[in-house]
Order: sequence, then structure tokens, then C-alpha cells
Amino acid sequence: IPPERIRGFSIIAHVDHGKSTLADRLLELTGAIAKRDPAATGTDKKEQEQVLDNLAVEKNRGITVKAQTVSLLWKRRGEVYLLNLIDTPGHVDFHYEVARSLAASQNALLLVDATQGVQAQTVANYTLAFDMGLDILPVINKIDLPSAQPEAVADQIDAALVVPFASHEFPHVSAKTGEGVAALLDLIVDRMAPPPEASVAARDAPLRMLLFDSWYNAYKGVICLMAVKTGRVRVGDTVVAHATQHVYTVTEVGILAPAMTPAATLSAGQVGYLCLNMKKKSESVVGDTFYHRARPQPPVQTVTPVKPLVHAGVFPMDPVELPALTDAIESLTVHDPAISVAKETSGTLGQGFRLGFCGNLHMDVFRERLEMEHQMETLITHPTVAYRLLKNDGTVVVTNNPARWPDEAEIASHYAAFEEPFVVATLLSPVTYVGALLSLVGDNRGEHLDTTYLDDHRVMIKARLPLANVLTRFHSDVKARSSGYASFEYTEAGYRRSDLVKVRVLLNGEPVDALSSIHHRSEANAVARAWVQRLKGVIKRQLIDVAIQGQVAGKTVARETVKQVVKDVTQWIYGGDRTRKDKLLAKVKRGKSRMRLFANKIELDPETFRSLISQP
Ligand code: GTP
Repeated sequence: IPPERIRGFSIIAHVDHGKSTLADRLLELTGAIAKRDPAATGTDKKEQEQVLDNLAVEKNRGITVKAQTVSLLWKRRGEVYLLNLIDTPGHVDFHYEVARSLAASQNALLLVDATQGVQAQTVANYTLAFDMGLDILPVINKIDLPSAQPEAVADQIDAALVVPFASHEFPHVSAKTGEGVAALLDLIVDRMAPPPEASVAARDAPLRMLLFDSWYNAYKGVICLMAVKTGRVRVGDTVVAHATQHVYTVTEVGILAPAMTPAATLSAGQVGYLCLNMKKKSESVVGDTFYHRARPQPPVQTVTPVKPLVHAGVFPMDPVELPALTDAIESLTVHDPAISVAKETSGTLGQGFRLGFCGNLHMDVFRERLEMEHQMETLITHPTVAYRLLKNDGTVVVTNNPARWPDEAEIASHYAAFEEPFVVATLLSPVTYVGALLSLVGDNRGEHLDTTYLDDHRVMIKARLPLANVLTRFHSDVKARSSGYASFEYTEAGYRRSDLVKVRVLLNGEPVDALSSIHHRSEANAVARAWVQRLKGVIKRQLIDVAIQGQVAGKTVARETVKQVVKDVTQWIYGGDRTRKDKLLAKVKRGKSRMRLFANKIELDPETFRSLISQP
């Protein structure tokens, strides 16, 4: 296919505005997949098989987590065009995936739900694409719904965003019924520019290609997804990875259609996969540039690692599974380079890892992938942000682990101040809820920065908030206080001074490191009291008296005692079946090693233990 007949685009949108559904229709119409009987497609998200959402966790949750790439062919005026489509996730936690996909495309379809209008992530994803220099075509979706207001939504887009199309030109589609989708494909061909690198001259230039995704395939090893910027690559070529300087022989090239389809070559302007016989999964650095060994080239872009925002300890339920957990984490982090990994040892939980994520949903998805793809049961501690501790001698310590927070005596003699990360949040809401949302901002130590009216009904609020608060209940509170109508988004906004203190939980005088946390002083007492009540509720009666204390900055602010009880774990097994009794004792013993909260004394059932450790 000649270079001028290539089009590359990503689909971006707010969560649930229909990206994956549209991608499915595009695949069907272009014949990449067989058309399915619409009646057989359930209305429940979970029942619908979205072709590009192929991770178990994506099917389970009905959301896109990984960006997916597919090459499609579309005939227009008798000529065949090659369309490189990248379906992207909508949730803020997967922003890095969107950014990565956008680096490999020149155009973006900005999908907006005709019943919902412009939402916070519509604006955020638009801004990201705009800043990366992409041409953006707004597409209004879900026009089949009775409550659709495509004209009003087009006006909103026109008012809020800058796009190279007039509002009457925005295509109206129903990704569900397929209405308008063929016309959309024609419009993509007619109005989108081919990739600037897709010229005959670029094809003859030295090879330069961007690695923008990679994953592990059981048969073929590490698969690298490349956007070829200049030149061409074929099987047998010797290529070099700029960042690692590793040399590889290309063993297979091909396109995703959507299944892996081998091809003879990939040329400038194309997107496709390469098998390079990489020994380790960690060799593929997303964002890296590859070139022919004989003709070294400068990198396409600098590789900037994603900065994680939340951190949590991850431990195996059973300590013998540490090696399996290590393998599982290694293979999942290749697939998801936005996760940072360090080893950690906890007094309560033993050996494990401290992982960094882009947000709580990102973390949840990771936990689910550990369970679904690797059958790993894990204990994940409460997520925390990274704090900056400024010492008297001018040095700065960054910690993302409350267990490592200095004690009060050390603070008094060595530390000058603490800082916590802040974000600027954008809230989009119907005008009616402005008051409720501003008071929510106030309740979370936030500062209202700005209010803009998008039209008579919708308003955009900007506010500065501590990241720690945004990560916990803010999202659900925004939904609750706006009857589900407001949406929000945030971007990092640096560190600010903060009066931070450590909340500890002590059992019979001993601190439980896995339950300690860092809070602003104004919120700490309530947290300590809540912990004591919660523990009192679950510890029940043990073989010893248990004194529960909640401390803020070393001072006890709440206290309860649970009186002892004597029990025999085997008493309920009547009769003389010795093996059953032994088995139970062995099980209890093994379980105990993971269910003790401190000094081997407080026993909890595994589920209670797990929920204490993982839910703040
Ligand atoms: P994420 O991947 O989670 O970001 O969502 P998404 O934008 O890919 O949305 P998805 O395609 O999963 O669609 C969300 C819901 O909207 C699903 O229940 C779809 O069936 C439904 N939907 C998508 N397009 C249409 C449409 O044109 N009409 C109607 N009625 N429903 C649609």
C-alpha cells in the first residue's frame, strides 16, 4: 500500500463513551472480524465480548486497561487504504497508555457520548492529544438513544475545545447499531492526513522505529509493537535498541489484523509487531528507538519513565509463594511499565515488594491480574503517596512507606518540615451541584481556584487538593454529591508544606507496622479512633488480653481492651478421626503464620486479616 494511503489514529474519550464498542464496529465493517448477530450481544457490559479488550480483567470489568492496536483495510473510491487504529483506555489511571498510543498516531477520534456531553476526561484526553500535536476529530456517539442530544453536545464541544472541524461536520454515530460508522471511515480517509513519515523518500531513508508496547507470548517470546518512522524492516535484519544497546536479529515481522499476521516488511508510516528473540522481558523499553546496526540513528523521543503516584506493599498470602510472586510481578510489569518495583520487608507481613502505581484503579487492576492471570493470592497494604521530609541539614528524604517514617524524637532533633503532593483537579458538573462540590473541596483541605461556565447548564471547577485525599474517597464523594452527574480529573501540581503526623496502631504496646499511616494533623485523630474501633470489632476474644491503642505523633488518643478467652481449636471435631484432626491442626498452624497481627499473638481469620491490611 503506497504511503499516501495510510492513516493512523487513536480513539480517545471519557470512560464509557463507547471507544471499545466503536473499535469493534470498525473491525467488523472492515472485515477484520466477522459480523456478529447484534441480538446475541448482551446489554450487560460483562456479557459483551469486546474484541480488543482481551485481558481477562478487561472483560471482567468491562473497561479498557491496555491500549490495543489493529491494522484495518478500507476501500474508498476503488482504492484500498491501510488504517492503523489504536484503542485507548479512558480512565485517568491509564493516562500513560493514552500518551504512549498518541506518540504512535497522528490523528485522534475524540468520542463524546450524545447523552452525557463533554466530561472531565474528554477535556483531559483532548488536552493530551492537542499538546502532542495530533489532529482531533470529534465524533458524537450513542445517537440511537432517545435521550441523545447530538446538536447540543456538538455546541458544547465547539465551546470548550479547539478542533480543525466545524461543529456541523462532527460525525454522528451509533457504535452500537453501526449507524454512521461507514461514513466515519470515509471521513477518516478523506480528511485525515497520512503519517508525515509515510512518503516514498522516508521509506528509502535509514530505519528508525519507535517501540510503543510489548508483551509476552508463550510461543514467540517477547513481542514488540513498533511504529516505523523511516526506512523499512524485514526478517533477518540486524537491529539495535538505542536505550539498551542490545543487538537483535529480526525473526518475524507482521501486523495485527487483529490477530498476529506475518508480513514480508514493515515500512515507514506502518505500525506492526516484531519478534526479536529477546531473552528477558525487561529488555523491551517502551519509548525506545530501534535502527539497523549498520546505520545508527538518533532516538525518536526521550524515554521518560512514568512517575508512580501511589505506593503499596504487596506480599504473598503464603510466604512460600514469594518466588512465584516475584515471577508474576516481573511478567506483569513488562506488560505495564508504569508500575515501579522495589523489595520490602515488613515486621507483620514478611518479605514482599513495594510497588508504585498511577492510581487506585491501576492498583486494583494489577491485583486482579495477579489473581486471574497468575493465580496469586496477595496481601496488598493501604496505598500511600510519597512524602518529602526536609531535614535540618538541608537534605531531603522521600518516603512512600509509613513504616519508615521517623519517630517523634528523631523528628524533633533532625527534621525541619514535611511536604505532601498536591494535584489540580478539574470537575465538570451541572450548575446545580456547584455548592455541594465546593464544600467537598473544602472538606478535603482543598483550595478553589477557578470556575468557568461552559454553557447555561454546565460548569468547570478547578481546585487544588492533596493527592492523598483525592486517592481515597474523593471520586465516590464527587459522584455521591452530584447524583452521579459530575466527573473529575486531576494532574500533578507539585509538593507543598504540610503538618503531617504518623498514626500508629499498637496491640499490647507493640506497634503494628502494616497498619500505620501518615495523615495531616487535622485528620489524624479521627483516623486513629476509627482504627481502634475497627480492631475492637474484629479481634474478638483471644488467648490473651489485648490492649488496642491508637496513637497520633506518639500520643495515645484512643484505647480499648478485648478480654481473653480460652479455646481449643479442635474441640468441635468429635470422634476419633486422628488424620482429620492432624490435618486441621496443620492447616491452622500454616494459616496462623499469616494471620498474626503482632508478636505471634493475635490470631485472625485470613479474610479479616486481609481486609485490615488492605482497606484503610
Ligand atoms: P472504557 O474502555 O472503559 O474506557 O470504555 P469505552 O469508552 O471503551 O466504552 P465501551 O465501548 O465499553 O462502552 C460503554 C457502554 O456504552 C457499553 O455498555 C456499550 O454497550 C455502550 N455503548 C457504546 N456505544 C453505544 C452506542 O452507540 N449506543 C448505545 N446505546 N450504547 C453504546
